[in-house]
Amino acid sequence: MNQSASGDVAERTAPSAGLRIGDIAPDFSARSTAGDIRLSDYRGRWLVLFSHPADFTPVCTTEFVALAQAAAQFDQRDCALMALSVDSLFSHFAWLRMIRDRFDIEVRFPIVEDPTLVIGKAYGMVAPQDRDSATVRTTFFIDPEGIIRAMTCYPANVGRSTPEMLRTLDALQAVHQGQVLAPANWEPGQPLLRQPSAKLDDVFAAKNQTDWFLKETRGGAQK
Ligand code: BEZ
Repeated sequence: MNQSASGDVAERTAPSAGLRIGDIAPDFSARSTAGDIRLSDYRGRWLVLFSHPADFTPVCTTEFVALAQAAAQFDQRDCALMALSVDSLFSHFAWLRMIRDRFDIEVRFPIVEDPTLVIGKAYGMVAPQDRDSATVRTTFFIDPEGIIRAMTCYPANVGRSTPEMLRTLDALQAVHQGQVLAPANWEPGQPLLRQPSAKLDDVFAAKNQTDWFLKETRGGAQK
């Protein structure tokens, strides 16, 4: 139990408590701004599935403008985008029309309607302590096999960083095929790290104290 700043006492459960990295992303079918879609139809590509609290809200509007502007960069990485909120399909349509007219950009990636929150609850996108039933800003990075590789959760009052979403995707893709690691602040073109050795002989044979567990590699994915 936790005492919040406003004095409420609530059971604090991480929104994504039910799902973990390495889990299969739960499948669903739903109506979206791009027609009827099924999550499993995205197998074979990377997918960023993300929820937002509500249409026609300030931070969410900035996120959708930023993501629409970056859509081609996700596509270059063979990654689809899929948004979700509790709002109805017609609310999504009206919001996208407003965004197009005001910001001169068309949001073409699907926005799922989830009025019953059946998907939001399956993904832990609904904070149980919240008074309303809006989804928070959760983001799931799903690999081409349908496995969750990373997830983030931001509050309603802080927007996500599109460059950081792209960087996370780049890092996940770079480590996906082999036994390499992406260090802090890694960006494409920078060296990755080797997996640390599990052999004592390598520890004693290493030229210096750290080479056996902390060593850069430029050789791409280590198999
Ligand atoms: C926003 O996107 O600005 C927002 C959404 C829900 C609550 C507060 C802010």
